[in-house]
Amino acid sequence: MSQAIRFSAYGDADVLRLVEVPLPEPAEGQVRVAVRAVGVNPLDWKIRRGYFAEGEPLGAPAGTGIELAGVVDAVGPGVTAWRPGQPVFGRSATRGAAATHDLAAVDELLEKPEWLSFEQAAALPVAVETAYRTLRELGLREGQTLLVHAAAGAVGLTAVQLARAWGATVIGTAGERNHAFLREIGAMPVTYGDGLVERVRAVAPQGVDLALDASGRGALPASLELAGGPEKVLTIADPAAADHGVRFSAVPGPTGEALREVLPLIGSDRVRMPIERTFPLDRAADAHRLSEEGHLQGKIVLKVG
Ligand SMILES: NC(=O)c1ccc[n+]([C@@H]2O[C@H](COP(=O)([O-])OP(=O)(O)OC[C@H]3O[C@@H](n4cnc5c(N)ncnc54)[C@H](OP(=O)(O)O)[C@@H]3O)[C@@H](O)[C@H]2O)c1
Repeated sequence: MSQAIRFSAYGDADVLRLVEVPLPEPAEGQVRVAVRAVGVNPLDWKIRRGYFAEGEPLGAPAGTGIELAGVVDAVGPGVTAWRPGQPVFGRSATRGAAATHDLAAVDELLEKPEWLSFEQAAALPVAVETAYRTLRELGLREGQTLLVHAAAGAVGLTAVQLARAWGATVIGTAGERNHAFLREIGAMPVTYGDGLVERVRAVAPQGVDLALDASGRGALPASLELAGGPEKVLTIADPAAADHGVRFSAVPGPTGEALREVLPLIGSDRVRMPIERTFPLDRAADAHRLSEEGHLQGKIVLKVG
């Protein structure tokens, strides 16, 4: 048997329970991971609240958690790329990573280097893949100026540091508590809210070439005004994207590939992922509550075992 966080109805964090479940069996192309740490994402509580269910009730108990780090525990039929005992990190195949055991597709994992702890490794896959994908979709080039909304959140801070490493100038929106941190990672901080356009113009008189919205809290009109056209703006969080003619990037690319590209920058400390707080697995509900408050500097991580 194994243990997993499950919920049987959509709702607030109280629906989450730690329960006994059968050990998951890896299918072809999958491995089973003995989980050591799980990254918590806003997507976890959005799914738990039923935001994507279109009014349908939950059919069967569901898990939570889309990224993990741990040790390969068993491999599915035909899998030769991984063997039991290897430390790995990457994306869950089940959206049930908050568990003692979970499954992952072989190409959604990367070997965890010794210098990275399980907690640090579990904090990376979703933010790294998303930042890497969206900066490429925007076509960011060396020498350009990029505006990042929610720049102190996990995706935002990763995008800031990647863009800096790729030779861009970066302006990031955040609450004032996070301004010193944004300066540390190489962005010019600007407070979000009314008057944003003027504040950005004051720090970037050269103008803004591109804007990445990782906030989803009404930043698109200002982004369009500053960048000068919908093709220069991309959101990962604003459901009103189509109303503004802006692209919404939602489909993950290969996580293993993005992690492989970005890992050297993490190893050389050019990309850092702060961990705001860790919780034990049985306090997954508290981790979801903190994520829902929406004012993080980096990631929340669940520690397993
Ligand atoms: N489409 C995709 O592929 C994809 C992938 C990953 C994530 N997402 C979505 O992208 C969003 C960001 O994810 P994440 O993991 O980075 O979230 P997160 O770590 O929870 O980000 C929270 C950040 O939002 C900032 N924030 C709060 N209110 C704000 C406002 N009014 N304006 C600007 N920033 C504000 C906070 O900054 P302060 O503390 O400074 O207030 C905080 O740093 C979420 O909605 C998530 O669901 C989408």
